[in-house]
Amino acid sequence: MDLQHHVLVVPCPAQGHVTPLIKIAYNLAYHGIKVTFANSEFIEAKILAAMSDSDKKQCPLRLVSYSDGLDSHPEERNGPGLMDSLKKVMPDNIEKLIKQINHSDKEPITCVIADLSVGWTLEVASKMGLKQVAVWTAGTGCLALSLHIPELIETGVIDENGSAVGNELICLSEELPLLKSSELTWSSPGNPTAQKFVLDLCLDVKQVAKNASIVLCNTCYELDSFSCAIIPNILPIGPLPAIKNLNPSSGTFSSHDLTCLIWLDKQPSNSVIYVAFGSTTVFSQKQFNEVALGLELSGHSFLWVVRPNIVNGSFPEYPIDFLERTAGRGKIVEWAPQEEILAHTSISCFFSHCGWNSTMEGLTHGVPFLCWPYMWDQFYNKNYIRDMWKVGLSLEHDEDGMISRHEIKTKIDNLLTNHGIKTNALKLMEDAKKSVTEGGSSYENFESLIKYLKA
Ligand code: UDX
Repeated sequence: MDLQHHVLVVPCPAQGHVTPLIKIAYNLAYHGIKVTFANSEFIEAKILAAMSDSDKKQCPLRLVSYSDGLDSHPEERNGPGLMDSLKKVMPDNIEKLIKQINHSDKEPITCVIADLSVGWTLEVASKMGLKQVAVWTAGTGCLALSLHIPELIETGVIDENGSAVGNELICLSEELPLLKSSELTWSSPGNPTAQKFVLDLCLDVKQVAKNASIVLCNTCYELDSFSCAIIPNILPIGPLPAIKNLNPSSGTFSSHDLTCLIWLDKQPSNSVIYVAFGSTTVFSQKQFNEVALGLELSGHSFLWVVRPNIVNGSFPEYPIDFLERTAGRGKIVEWAPQEEILAHTSISCFFSHCGWNSTMEGLTHGVPFLCWPYMWDQFYNKNYIRDMWKVGLSLEHDEDGMISRHEIKTKIDNLLTNHGIKTNALKLMEDAKKSVTEGGSSYENFESLIKYLKA
C-alpha cells in the first residue's frame, strides 16, 4: 500500500477556530489523508473530556498537543496573554512536534494546514520545507479588511494606531457592505492598548496571508463572490457542514446538553427563537436582564444558551421570577448542539452575535438572524447578514448604550413577520447546499485541495 500523505492541522486554541478546522480535518481523513490534529494541552484536555466514548473510538484523527506556555499563569488564557504566549512558544513547540512525529512515524508530515490566527506555524512549515496551507476561520470581510490596512492608513481613513480619522463609512468594494469606522475588527473605543493589540494581530494575519499559496475560507463563491474577488489565493470550501460521521461533540470544549433536542421535538414548527452568542461574548448583569425580559416580552418560545461565564465571566442572575414566568416556553442550557438545533423544524430565527461559524451554520439551515455583534469580525458579519444577504435584522442601542427589552421585542416581531427575509434565507440555503454538493464550487475546491495535498 503506498504511503499515506500526512498532514498536520493546527488551529488557534479557541472554540471558534477549532470547530472549523476539525471539520476540515475530518473531511481530509475521509479522503484517505492521514491527519494529525494539534491543540494546546489545555484545549486538548477540554476536547477529550467533552468527547463521547464512541466519538473517541470513531475519531479518524491523531490528536497531539503542545504547551501554550501558560501552565504557571492559567488565568492569562482568557486575555491577550494567550496570543502573546503562543507567539513566543508555538514556533519551537510545533517544530519539535513535527520532528518527533517524523522520527517515530513511517509516514512523515508533508504539509501543515494552520489557522492564520497562529500564522507563525506556517513560517515553521516553510522553514522545514513542508507544504503550507493557511485557513481563515472568521468572516471573509474581516480578512479583506486586514489585507487593506496599509491603504486605509495611506488614504487617511485610519491612523497608525487603527483609530478612525473621520466618521466616513468604509467601502472595500462597490458590492461589499459598508462598514462604520467604529465597527472595525480592532475598534476598541477607550482602550488604545486593546485596539493596538488586535490591529497588530490583523497585520500579522495580513503578512502571512499575503505569502500563502492557498487560503482556505469557510465561505463559498455562491454566497460571497465579492469578498473572494479581493482576497488573493482564496480557496472557498464552505459552508463547512457538520460532517456526516462527525458527531457534533467532536471539537467542542463543553459537553452538549442534549435535553434541548427533546424539548424542541415537543414544540410546534417555526415557533422557537434560538438564542446563542458563541463562546466568548459576555454581558453586564444589567444588559443580561434586558435580554431575558426582551425574550419574555416577545411572547415567543425560546431556547437560550447561557454559558456559566456569560455575565462578566461569572454565573448570571435572572430577573426576579423570570424563570417561573417563562417556565412553559423557555428552555435554558449551558452549551447546546447548535447545528442540530438550527436544523430543527421548530426554530423560527437565530438571535446571534454573528460569529462566523454561527453565521455559516445559520445560513446553511435557512434560519433568519437577529444580529447582536459583540466584537472583532462580528460587526462586519452583521452587515453581510443584514445589508448584503438580507437575511436578518440588527438591534440599535439606546442613549445609555444598552439594548433594551423593548428593542429586542420589536425587532423579533419585525423579523418574524418579514417574509422577504425568510425567502432570502431559504434561497441562500439552497445556494450553499449546491456549493458543497458535487459540481458546486466549494466541492470542487475541496477536491483540488486533496489533489494538491496528494501531489
Ligand atoms: C470566535 C469569534 O468570536 C468570532 O467572531 C469568529 O468569527 C470566530 O471565532 P465564537 O465567538 O466562538 O468565535 O463564535 P462562532 O464563530 O459562532 O463559533 C461558535 C461555535 O460554537 C459554533 O460552531 C457553534 O456551533 C458552537 N456552539 C455555540 C455550540 O456548539 N454550542 C453552543 O451552545 C454555542
